[in-house]
Amino acid sequence: MKILSVVGTRPNFMKIAPLVNEFRKRSIGHMLVHTGQHYDEEMYKLFFDDLKIPKPDFDLGVSSGTRDEQIKSIKAKLMPIIEKENPDVVVVVGDVNSTLAAAQAANKLGIKVAHVEAGLRSFDNTMPEEFNRIETDKISDFLFTTEKSGNINLKKECIDTEKVFFVGNVMIDTLLNHKEKASKSKILEKLGLENNNYCALTLHRPSNVDNKDDFANILYIIEKIQERIKIVFPIHPRSRKNIESFNFNDKLKNMKNLIITEPLGYLDFLHLMANSKFVLTDSGGIQEETTVLGIPCITLRQNTERPVTVEQGTNLLVSTDKEKVMSKAMEAIENKIKLKNRIPELWDGKAAERIVKILLNKR
Ligand code: UD1
Repeated sequence: MKILSVVGTRPNFMKIAPLVNEFRKRSIGHMLVHTGQHYDEEMYKLFFDDLKIPKPDFDLGVSSGTRDEQIKSIKAKLMPIIEKENPDVVVVVGDVNSTLAAAQAANKLGIKVAHVEAGLRSFDNTMPEEFNRIETDKISDFLFTTEKSGNINLKKECIDTEKVFFVGNVMIDTLLNHKEKASKSKILEKLGLENNNYCALTLHRPSNVDNKDDFANILYIIEKIQERIKIVFPIHPRSRKNIESFNFNDKLKNMKNLIITEPLGYLDFLHLMANSKFVLTDSGGIQEETTVLGIPCITLRQNTERPVTVEQGTNLLVSTDKEKVMSKAMEAIENKIKLKNRIPELWDGKAAERIVKILLNKR
């Protein structure tokens, strides 16, 4: 069997790592393509190093551009590679532009597509990821879901249930595989942090950082919270660019309890989350990781495509309403949050193994 996997962004790297491992263990012929959607050292190289992902066989070097440009360019550069290599399956992960572009390229050439993390739906059509999820699922031949809500969503969309497999969460495979190694990280010492006495913050959703007023509202919330607890904010390139263009640099500098860093590598960030009092985020994957770590996650969004993290895990879907976020943050600071803290079904570190077994049986 010959598999070609395509990755493009930071969250894709965490998802492909355990699959690459599993392909290697079973001596399956595998090629890795990096589209280049994320290209900074901190957004790409650090992750390949931390997760010991082999150097990609092909780097498409696509980098930035509008969404349409990114997708068009990935397809144009990927199709000749797929044609030449002629894999049995193209594996795509997550919901980013690279995911959809690669699925469309393979589908157009009549090659089977396996989508890892299928079926998630936020029901928010303003999110580019929602479009990517729906369109990728429509043309996939193997749909691997992380939670049962995914199977329900796909059934409602009339996707053949024979193609859908509930396998668990590859991102959690990676977390469990690296938890011990991450515990040796020196990031807390480096940033002068005390265990359980700071908040870890991430922000990058266009709905939160692309509009000046919305971003200013979040900065106001951060300003208030850092009066009570240290906040560590590894800045995503999209947010960094907008901070410059909205002239928010001075606002941030004036927050004495706010520690700004470059994006961190996988192991350092995992250690940072695992030892925080709570996490403040608009990320999708972090909602899942904090659930497994048992850390309260205040999510700065109206909706989530990962409802199991709210129903069973530690995710508190709070929105960006000032009062609501501040009140939840104060509860977290004062240890007043009661967490459900259950680990979702099949988030046991064996998702990649299940996926590969299915691919081998069904080929
Ligand atoms: C992308 C994904 C998003 C995912 C996020 C994780 C889509 C639609 N969005 O968003 O779902 O949650 O990755 O990080 O695919 N940039 C750099 N260096 C980099 C990468 C990006 O400077 O290494 C800049 C780009 O030039 C661009 C901006 O950051 O201006 C946004 O990058 P892009 O890949 O378009 O989207 P993300 O916001 O990272």
